Amino acid sequence: MTPAAPGVTPLHVAIIMDGNGRWARRRGLPRTRGHEEGAESIAAALRVCREAGIRYLTLYAFSVENWSRPSSEVRTLMSLLARFLRAKKQVLHRHRTRLRAIGRLDDLPARVRRELDRAIAETAHYADRQLILALSYGGRAELADAARRIARRVAAGELQPDDVTEAVVAAHLYAPDVPDPDLMIRTSGELRLSNFLLWQLSYAELYFAPVLWPDFREAEFRAALADYACRRRRFGGIG
Ligand code: IPE
Ligand code: IPE
Ligand code: MG
Repeated sequence: MTPAAPGVTPLHVAIIMDGNGRWARRRGLPRTRGHEEGAESIAAALRVCREAGIRYLTLYAFSVENWSRPSSEVRTLMSLLARFLRAKKQVLHRHRTRLRAIGRLDDLPARVRRELDRAIAETAHYADRQLILALSYGGRAELADAARRIARRVAAGELQPDDVTEAVVAAHLYAPDVPDPDLMIRTSGELRLSNFLLWQLSYAELYFAPVLWPDFREAEFRAALADYACRRRRFGGIG
C-alpha cells in the first residue's frame, strides 16, 4: 500500500453516490441499469483508494428516506444490493478491504442482511482499508439512536448527565472507531447533504462533482483528490 501523505491524502473519504436514475433516463434505460452501472463505479473508487493510500471509504448506498421510493424501486435496489454483496466480494478480497456497514441494518430484508453479514465476516481480517456502506442510514437517525443508548446508560446509573460530552456522543455512533471524513464528495450536481453523516462531516472539506455517479470513475475521483490537496483546513484556527 502506498502510504498516505498526511494533510494531502485524506485518511477518510465519504461519498454520496447520486445520479444513477438520471444516468439511465438520459439513455432511455430503466433506472435499474443506472444502479447497476453505479456498482462499477464502486469498484473504481476502491482501486483509487488503494492506489492513493486512503484507508476509509464510506459510501451512502441507501438512506432512511429512500424507503419512501416506490416499492418496486426499493425491491430492485435491495436485490441489487444482495447481488452486489455476493458478486463483488472478490473485489474486496482483491483490494484487501474490510467491509462494514452503518445504519438501521435491522430494517434491511433478511437476504440482504445475510449477504452483508457474510461479506463483513469474510473480510474482517483485512486491516489496511475499510469500505463502510451506509445502508438504511440517516444522520438524524444515528444521533437519535446514540441519544437513546446514552439515555439508557444514564437511567441505569452507569453515566451521569454531566458526563455526556462530545466524546461520549461520538462513542455511541454506529462506527465510533472510524475517524471523521476529511473529504465528502457528492456527485450529480446536487448541493446538499441529504442527511448524510451530520455529526462526522462537521469539518470535512466538501466537493461537489457535476457528473452522475455511474460516470464518476478513476479520473473524476483523482480530480477530487487533487482539489482536496490544495485546500487549507483551519479548524477554526488561524491558518
Ligand atoms: C443514487 O441515485 C442511488 C440511491 C439513492 C439509492 P438516484 O437513484 O438517487 O438517482 P437520481 O438522483 O434519481 O438520478
Ligand atoms: C442521497 O441521494 C442518498 C443516497 C445517495 C443513498 P438521494 O437521491 O436520495 O437524495 P435527494 O432525495 O436528492 O436529497
Ligand atoms: Mg438521487
